[in-house]
Amino acid sequence: MSEKIIKSADRVKDIGEVFTPRKTVDFMLDQPEIKEKVNSLTATFLEPSAGEGAFLVELLRRKLSFATEQSKDVSDMQNKFLQALSTLYGIELMEDNVELLVMNMANTFRDVYFNTFKPEDQSQKVLKSANIIISANMAQGDTLKRTTATGDPIIFSEWKPVGNNKVQRTEYTFDAIVEGEGPIGSVQNEAEQLSLFAEPDEDEETEAKNYLPVKWEDVYKQLTD
Ligand SMILES: C[S@@+](CC[C@H](N)C(=O)[O-])C[C@H]1O[C@@H](n2cnc3c(N)ncnc32)[C@H](O)[C@@H]1O
Repeated sequence: MSEKIIKSADRVKDIGEVFTPRKTVDFMLDQPEIKEKVNSLTATFLEPSAGEGAFLVELLRRKLSFATEQSKDVSDMQNKFLQALSTLYGIELMEDNVELLVMNMANTFRDVYFNTFKPEDQSQKVLKSANIIISANMAQGDTLKRTTATGDPIIFSEWKPVGNNKVQRTEYTFDAIVEGEGPIGSVQNEAEQLSLFAEPDEDEETEAKNYLPVKWEDVYKQLTD
């Protein structure tokens, strides 16, 4: 079946919407400098014009494959699956594209998960946590203005591994990430930062949500505040 790379001539003209064919995605992700980052559970990717996820979905497949190879047992693999997912970020302007982007990421995670883990090892907690991470990491907004459709700042979460099986979530505005500033509300964090995120800035005024470290599979429980 041929791939659909445009939706309408108007959308091509208005927002430059042309989706990347799979062959081109593969070619680009096969470049050695990209491969090195794909084969890492901490290196982050941000797709600033994510469309329906041509790049992010394939990055997810490749990172999950790497996580499978790296895991020492089933429980470790469940954590590493969520960790790999947490390194992928996207921004997309159009609401219909973002819906498909989120759905494509969630379906890809589920498909690989069901194909990798035996039925008795499959956990709804992991799948629910994956959905929370995807919703947090895929933003609808304008990358150039760094804002959402309602004009609010785009906010991303850093997912920092803590020990063997936990994660600490910290929120940053996209603006602060680009400017190399600290997290919302400057929650002080002494450990090494992931490359996408800078050191905390104590002057930041926006109100923070504080998240305590939790097991990866319990990320979904932090939805409440
Ligand atoms: C050329 S398409 C590429 C989509 C995807 N990266 C791919 O390779 O299939 C560009 C995408 O950027 C989105 N876009 C255009 N302007 C944008 C902006 N200011 N902020 C975020 N996304 C934008 C469009 O809606 C479109 O989905």
